[in-house]
Amino acid sequence: MRRLQRLARRREPGFALLEGPRVVAEAAAAGVELELIAVREGDDSLVDAPRRITLSRGVFRSISQTVTPQGVIAIAKVREWTAGEAIEVARAHRWPLVVLDRVQDPGNVGAICRTAAAAGAPALALLDGCADPYGAKSVRASAGNVFRLTVARARWEDLAGLDGYGAAATGGAPLAEAPIEKAGMIILGSEAHGLSKENLKLVTVPLGGGVESLNVAAAAALLLFEIRRRLAA
Ligand SMILES: C[S@@+](CC[C@H](N)C(=O)[O-])C[C@H]1O[C@@H](n2cnc3c(N)ncnc32)[C@H](O)[C@@H]1O
Repeated sequence: MRRLQRLARRREPGFALLEGPRVVAEAAAAGVELELIAVREGDDSLVDAPRRITLSRGVFRSISQTVTPQGVIAIAKVREWTAGEAIEVARAHRWPLVVLDRVQDPGNVGAICRTAAAAGAPALALLDGCADPYGAKSVRASAGNVFRLTVARARWEDLAGLDGYGAAATGGAPLAEAPIEKAGMIILGSEAHGLSKENLKLVTVPLGGGVESLNVAAAAALLLFEIRRRLAA
């Protein structure tokens, strides 16, 4: 129980706290090893784990980070990959590596992981300044799908060998004319400041109605599903 409380306050490398029956079930389905499942008294979980404990409603509420916690929490072992491994996995699947550049909102990081998994992107790299993809909020926003991806922390130097496109709200080549499916990486920029690197080739989803930019997770969905469509063609 102390370990659960500690993990709820601060994530330990190699472990993640999963909240909610759906996230726990998705993670288990993705092959994640669960160390422990904690169930709120009166609730149940069909997912297997080596240890299972029941918590009173009060203790459960103190550990859960959601406002209306559903009655299952689990500790998962997560493999944190290196940038080189993520690059290799992307290359082996002939997909661009999806790179996040200072995407700070865990909801956006999780949503992009979910979209990337759905589009078939195998690997994702997060540059400095991104939210923790294995934090409880990101994992919840990914609906557990972050575990279907090879996810690594990276620095720009790690990506130096990759030719890629930065996604930009304005000024890039229109999506229809940019061969992003052939790129080594596709980089999505921060909610407030966009991309942190200059001299990238840029791609833009043309917008109508006087709208300046898309939410970064919405932009990711359009770009990644366009890559999926082109790779399948
Ligand atoms: C909210 S936008 C950032 C807007 C910010 N004011 C800027 O300076 O770019 C967050 C990210 O979403 C992506 N994005 C937003 N709109 C886009 C568009 N129309 N085409 C391609 N990417 C877009 C870009 O990667 C951008 O960095």
